[in-house]
Amino acid sequence: MSNAVVVNEVLKKFGKPTDQTWRRLLPYKPNTNGSKSQDNGRKPIVLAVNRVSFDMLEGEIFGVLGPNGGGKSTLIRLISTLLLPDAGTITVFDRDVVRQPRQVQWMINRVSVEASFFKKLSPMENLLYGARLYGMAGGDIRSKVIEILTRLGLDKRAILNPMEEMSRGMQQKVAVARALLSRPRLLLLDEPTTGLDPRSKREVQAVVRELREEHGVTILLTTHDMTEAETLCDRIAIMDQGSIVAMNTPEKLCTMVPSPNGHKPTLEDVFLELTGKSLVADEEKEVA
Ligand SMILES: Nc1ncnc2c1ncn2[C@@H]1O[C@H](COP(=O)(O)OP(=O)(O)OP(=O)(O)O)[C@@H](O)[C@H]1O
Ligand SMILES: [Mg+2]
Repeated sequence: MSNAVVVNEVLKKFGKPTDQTWRRLLPYKPNTNGSKSQDNGRKPIVLAVNRVSFDMLEGEIFGVLGPNGGGKSTLIRLISTLLLPDAGTITVFDRDVVRQPRQVQWMINRVSVEASFFKKLSPMENLLYGARLYGMAGGDIRSKVIEILTRLGLDKRAILNPMEEMSRGMQQKVAVARALLSRPRLLLLDEPTTGLDPRSKREVQAVVRELREEHGVTILLTTHDMTEAETLCDRIAIMDQGSIVAMNTPEKLCTMVPSPNGHKPTLEDVFLELTGKSLVADEEKEVA
């Protein structure tokens, strides 16, 4: 198997709002209580992705876990060419995301939790629009749309009604279907099952598995569901405050921490043990 994605020493910084920005936006400055967002004469920054390196093999399902704000979505947006790295390189099937963004865009698709649609249009119309953007045409697109959406558990009525009449979970399924339609070689799934009920979750997970097994699609997945990560992913990277703190198969990760109460550690134990440490230390310093 060859490398599908190579992420090398990637760094992405964001500027935090300064006192000047707050003054422009609000008549008062919110109480930032000793947090790092205070000015101190220079623009404070967040290191959203901090010198991250890893490779993904073709056909691999690679999970990225981490606390809120850990840098997972930023990493996905960098790989999908939506953001430019401040340092480091990323290649997708040997194409550089900065120098060859168009070539990368043809090979990938992304599902994010905040997927946007034309809300007055139906899933069918939204997906046909998406297909057009990818240069897909022909009479079989409609039947393909119905096939994918039905596979994900949406009925005919929902497929033809306006998106705004659908629940968030149903809309999430349409987002997954839209990403599958273009048959990407690399699929970037940012919390694809967040907000889905247990049955819907399983339907999406089954489709993810099938994509890899039957079509060899390479998949990068973020999730806050530890069971999902454990059952779907070949390897998992745990990200905290922009850095990868551990990376291995789910089984090997579970051997990395001491057993709590004499039981074999779960992925959740590993997550809790390896993340949030420096935040706790920072808070303790502030209290002291
Ligand atoms: N556009 C932006 N402008 C400024 N800061 C940002 C921006 N996007 C992300 N950040 C910051 O970068 C850090 C990483 O955010 P990111 O969304 O990548 O985290 P995440 O791991 O996806 O979190 P979650 O689990 O909540 O989705 C956070 O501190 C966040 O506030
Ligand atoms: Mg995120």
